[in-house]
Amino acid sequence: MDFLPDSIDEYARNFSSAEPELLKELNRETHLKVLSPRMLSGHLQGRFLSIISNMIRPDLVVEIGTYTGYSALCLAEGLSEKGRLITIDNNRELRPFAESYFARSPHGSKIQFLAGNAADLIPSLPDQIDLAFIDADKENYSRYFDLLIDKVRPGGFLLADNVLWSGKVVQPVKENDQSTKAICAFNEKVNRDHRVETMLLPLRDGIMIIRKK
Ligand SMILES: C[S@@+](CC[C@H](N)C(=O)[O-])C[C@H]1O[C@@H](n2cnc3c(N)ncnc32)[C@H](O)[C@@H]1O
Repeated sequence: MDFLPDSIDEYARNFSSAEPELLKELNRETHLKVLSPRMLSGHLQGRFLSIISNMIRPDLVVEIGTYTGYSALCLAEGLSEKGRLITIDNNRELRPFAESYFARSPHGSKIQFLAGNAADLIPSLPDQIDLAFIDADKENYSRYFDLLIDKVRPGGFLLADNVLWSGKVVQPVKENDQSTKAICAFNEKVNRDHRVETMLLPLRDGIMIIRKK
């Protein structure tokens, strides 16, 4: 969900760098051919991910939740010369789609797609992660944080998407709404964790910015 009025959202996009042509095409093809295209980060959030990655110039980025590859391509824009990005998704059917776009990107050779359940794969990832982006099943956000935090280098960052969950985090939570409960628990958990600093950025559906001290 977007919280900004359309006119402000449009103004913000107009005064942010243009969406690269390859990402425009990926965005369009996702909307035409893939279920739930609203999961894709999109122009404004994509430029945010790109500029954050360019600020950090990471050697290692880990993404949980590839979908069609939009955010992976944005994050890859800031990789250092020798940098690499590992992106994980348990939907194997998305792999050919995402990889066809990675192959056409100047950063594509730095991106590795791992197919499988994130909680099973994270323990085998390398240490010294500079930047992690959590954007998969909401019920497991806290688990992903716990699995990733020791692998993130001191001074490194984690970003978590959808932490405002269409505003449900500030409404009475329905008994059977496990996703909202999980997002609320995640936000409280990371905010209380003394190993990190947090800033909840109300961009699009909310991005939690977490810096490991
Ligand atoms: C919101 S989409 C990711 C969007 C993408 N980051 C972007 O901005 O373009 C979430 C993705 O997480 C994947 N996913 C869900 N549960 C998962 C799990 N347990 N392990 C790995 N991937 C998972 C889904 O298949 C889906 O493609």
